[in-house]
Amino acid sequence: MIVKIIGSAAGGGFPQWNCNYHLSRNARNAENGFLARTQSSIIASADGKRFVLFNASPDIRQQIQNTPCLHPGADGPLRSTPIAAVVLTNADVDHIAGLLTLRERQAFNLYATKRVLDVLDANPIFNVLNPDLVKRHILPLTGVTAICDVDGNPLDITLETFVVAGKIALFMENAADENFGSQDGDTVGLKIGQTGSNKTLFYIPGCAQVNVELFERVKNADCLLFDGTLFHDDEMLRAGLGPKTGKRMGHISMAGEQGSLRAWQDAAINQKIYVHINNSNPVLDDHAPERQMVEKAGWQVAFDGMEIIL
Ligand code: MLT
Ligand code: MN
Repeated sequence: MIVKIIGSAAGGGFPQWNCNYHLSRNARNAENGFLARTQSSIIASADGKRFVLFNASPDIRQQIQNTPCLHPGADGPLRSTPIAAVVLTNADVDHIAGLLTLRERQAFNLYATKRVLDVLDANPIFNVLNPDLVKRHILPLTGVTAICDVDGNPLDITLETFVVAGKIALFMENAADENFGSQDGDTVGLKIGQTGSNKTLFYIPGCAQVNVELFERVKNADCLLFDGTLFHDDEMLRAGLGPKTGKRMGHISMAGEQGSLRAWQDAAINQKIYVHINNSNPVLDDHAPERQMVEKAGWQVAFDGMEIIL
């Protein structure tokens, strides 16, 4: 199985369009050690020809352009794409806005939980994906799904879906409800596998907490792509970038007693990679002490174009 991280930043990207924080400024100026990154998305393929796109970021057009294996085949039909299926892990803007770019009468299968599909169903703009061509499929909250193209041909990629602690999409929040109206299925994690192989890759770009159940599920994985949004829970407040903590946004931080570095330190995971990295996170500076700290703990910080072969 080939897995490629085509977008390694969180919502807003790196640099973020309106941000003058030193990290975004340095990335904008292409300073040494500040690699620009597009918004959160990965692709996987069993055969190197047909791909599953996980999360459709607002940067999908640029990501396709940057990724030759996602280009329409030169000797294929006039309109075509190697993207045979799209899977969503939540309904955040950085994970669904790219669906609007995938219009132009292109057929593919779209998979998400009922909670996430309900968000798309409630927003008629997503009907630009012609329902005759783009088939929506419900992912169970727990269980295995064999991913197929629209004609029902298996892509030999299987998904095991599971609920993780998280939050409803920002634009769906209801302040009057507990945890803003979040329910199971608003955020899921995925175990991605290839038919006939026992290699396992977990993709969990949004997660508020690593509980015992999650730890036990993932602890022997070959590869974990995990929520790397923030380093410190209050880093956005401290930097004057915004009023929200990581907890408020449904994201665990890297540092601290409750952080992800601590949570995964005793796991026997072969390869641990932080994805969905926010433009406030100091690990985006290749030379920062925080970057050295996560690397010393056995983590890699994802960059666009990073490839994992399992
Ligand atoms: C998140 O991951 O918390 C969201 O992408 C935030 C947002 O919607 O901008
Ligand atoms: Mn996000």
